[in-house]
Amino acid sequence: MTPTFNSKAPGLTWPKEDFSRVPYEVFTDPQVFERENEKIFQGDVWNYLAHEVELPNPGDFVTNWVGRTQVVVVRDKDQSISAFENSCAHRGAQLVTQVRGNMVKVSCPYHLWAYSLRGDLIGVPMAQGVNGKGGMPSGFSKADHGLKKLEVQIHGGLIFGTFSKRAPNLQAFLGPHSLSQIDRLLVQRKPKVLGYLRQRIPGNWKLYNENVRDPYHGSLLHQFQVSFGLQQPTMKGGIKLDADLKNTWNHSILSETDKDNQKLMEKAFEGTGKYNPNMKMADPALTQVPLDLADGYKTTILSIFPTLIVAQVDNTYAIRHLRPKGPDMVELHITYLGFEGDTQKQTHDKLLTANFIGPAGYISLEDGEALRLVQEGIKSRAPGTHEVLEMGGVGAIEDTDYLSQEISIRGFWSHYHKIMDFQANDEPTEHAQ
Ligand code: FES
Ligand SMILES: [Fe+2]
Repeated sequence: MTPTFNSKAPGLTWPKEDFSRVPYEVFTDPQVFERENEKIFQGDVWNYLAHEVELPNPGDFVTNWVGRTQVVVVRDKDQSISAFENSCAHRGAQLVTQVRGNMVKVSCPYHLWAYSLRGDLIGVPMAQGVNGKGGMPSGFSKADHGLKKLEVQIHGGLIFGTFSKRAPNLQAFLGPHSLSQIDRLLVQRKPKVLGYLRQRIPGNWKLYNENVRDPYHGSLLHQFQVSFGLQQPTMKGGIKLDADLKNTWNHSILSETDKDNQKLMEKAFEGTGKYNPNMKMADPALTQVPLDLADGYKTTILSIFPTLIVAQVDNTYAIRHLRPKGPDMVELHITYLGFEGDTQKQTHDKLLTANFIGPAGYISLEDGEALRLVQEGIKSRAPGTHEVLEMGGVGAIEDTDYLSQEISIRGFWSHYHKIMDFQANDEPTEHAQ
């Protein structure tokens, strides 16, 4: 049966072609969330599943989420990687309950149906019945009852999966900026996992996408960054978008003039209570970790539609992945990375600066709270009201060489609107029957 979507949902209007207005219902309406699962997560996109270094040996697996669908990602004996829905083909039981581990086959705890590491059904207990009675009908074929599989492609160690047969090639989906940043961050040195963090944020998953495409807030919301020189509104930097505007690379650059800028900033923040030049850290070691890379980028945030962020914040490297749990809840899963060949001191420093991000991160703490505040604030907004995205200019959605902008957020919405099959200035289109 074709799922239905209430095309008459009141107020779901997109009044500006440049996506400088976004209807608040996209963050709150359960029907929009349903449609996202169909059009995005089951649609023609590549979803991040895991990094290859998490699955070094045959039988190694991790579980993850593609939208609201739980999946198992596993390395087979021939080193290939497969992914399939974590739900038995018999009567739907969850197959794997561990977050990660190793297995020789997938065995359902309920009636012990067994699957290969590729998700093919290989064993059905009592298929021939007992003492000549019962059993599966003669026409039952194991080949017809494998697990629901995703197609898997890998780039730079990042494993992606799609349920669609029509998704473009992964490299084309990623685009040139993503490819070069993945190369810079994850290929030139071999990553290793330093640890994980998970965080539930009471806000819509797209609010996080807005947040990571939003350098405007960096020096305003995050007092820590401003006070200790990690981010300033005067810093050089900008954004680069891919051709269909869905993936964004935000970057800020250390420059010689940062010390002078600090003085300008004192003036700019005068009276706001947000900047105190006399504030000092008792132990500033955290902010004095040297950058591994000599290219001068202080922060680089690569945001890949729909739910992946590969980020370098100062000298912290992490893969952030969003797991939507409903219109008003998202789980953020962070994989902290170090690199093969890092000295003990470098590993120590990376663990130290890991404190920048995460649920209690000196920086990210405020992002989680900002999302909660937005979700709370828009709950009571009247239908047909919109957020305003005009910082940095309206109209064309294109690369900038400045940071105070929301243009990259408009890029996200432009692609989201297209893939969700909404219409401008109108209600969403009905599903084809
Ligand atoms: S539900 Fe899995 S074997 Fe029956
Ligand atoms: Fe932030």
